[in-house]
Amino acid sequence: MNYSFKDPSVSIAIVGAGGFIGSHLLDALIERTSWHIFAVDLDFNRLQHRLNHPRIEFLCDDLKNGSVATRIAACPIVINLAAICVPSRYMREAKEVIESNYNHPVALALACEKSGAWLIHFSTSEVYGKTSLEPCLLEEDSSSMVLGSVRASRWSYACAKQLTERYIASLQGLSWTVLRPFNFIGPRMDFIPGIDGEGIPRVLANFCAALLKNEPLLLVDKGVSRRSFTSIHDAIHFIFAVLSHREESLGQAFNIGNPENELSIAELADCMRSIYASLRNVSIDQVSSVQNISSSDYYGEGYEDSLRRIPSIEKAKRLLGYVPSEALDVTLRETLSWFIEHYRLVL
Ligand code: NAD
Ligand code: UGA
Repeated sequence: MNYSFKDPSVSIAIVGAGGFIGSHLLDALIERTSWHIFAVDLDFNRLQHRLNHPRIEFLCDDLKNGSVATRIAACPIVINLAAICVPSRYMREAKEVIESNYNHPVALALACEKSGAWLIHFSTSEVYGKTSLEPCLLEEDSSSMVLGSVRASRWSYACAKQLTERYIASLQGLSWTVLRPFNFIGPRMDFIPGIDGEGIPRVLANFCAALLKNEPLLLVDKGVSRRSFTSIHDAIHFIFAVLSHREESLGQAFNIGNPENELSIAELADCMRSIYASLRNVSIDQVSSVQNISSSDYYGEGYEDSLRRIPSIEKAKRLLGYVPSEALDVTLRETLSWFIEHYRLVL
């Protein structure tokens, strides 16, 4: 049975609704559906504009509190986005990262199995592990998933996400779909250190912060790693494609990515410098430059990298009729413009 977006009796729980993806998803659900939304998070700073909306019930609570999972699973559709998912934390806080990406989602999966809710669980492209620079399309049901040693605690997150996927797939009574995002980017991503968060955000936010502060863009291990960046708008379209194809999505893991948007981190830095110069109407020599830094100096011991991640999107095309469409320069321009405007008064 598929759910109609116009049916006001449908309710959906978004766990991690206050985060980057969650806040965009919540906006889209309000704009494109008549559904009731149960929004759960530790904070809702990104959702100030929605706090009084009559179709949203907010719950500010921690997923680690057992009773929260039961309340969430009372909704027939549950999307779980809650996680610690910033690489700089995978080394120093491995225990919390594993609890957040394994223990908490497993408790939620068991509650959904009991209630009969459809669990749409956010995993990660990092489950594909320690990939090399060889060009290789990563396929959901056939690619290998090789992680580094236990001492390299960078893999705490990938390992926890992978085990959660395996656990979810083992639950005979659970209706599930697993999504593996490939580096989503867009407005509202992460934070600027010292302004609205502490630590090291993911690369897109970190490069935006460096440009706004007129500081160097730091290239970890010379910026040779490659990523396939995905517009948050394409990502939201994908989630809607899943929501409108329940039968096709049940029991499936899907990559969400854009193989056309693949480049090295050094190339990303150049591209962002040039777009930022054009937005500020200055020459490229007048904006921040790049600077190399070793991964051990930047992230500390235990960091290793995934060198290249290109998603196969054949399964999404075949089962959901979905293809991403937004070019990287369009997303970068929108995101940089948002960062300039959002932090205008503080930077
Ligand atoms: P985010 O950090 O912006 O959002 C996660 C949200 O979860 C935060 O608002 C946080 O407060 C909340 N949260 C964390 N622990 C919680 C808890 N115990 N109880 C309640 N709420 C809690 O991250 P995001 O980029 O929006 O990512 C969302 C999900 O997608 C995560 O599971 C992440 O692993 C996965 N993912 C994201 C990307 C990406 O490119 N953004 C890529 C791969 C996977
Ligand atoms: C991220 C996070 O693990 C998760 O948010 C997510 O699950 C995953 O991507 C995914 O999309 O599946 P990663 O891509 O390594 O992992 O995170 P970033 O911090 O965005 O780093 C990307 C690359 O840029 C890495 O090679 C990193 O070393 C490099 N980097 C990062 C820099 O060169 N400079 C920086 O300032 C930050």
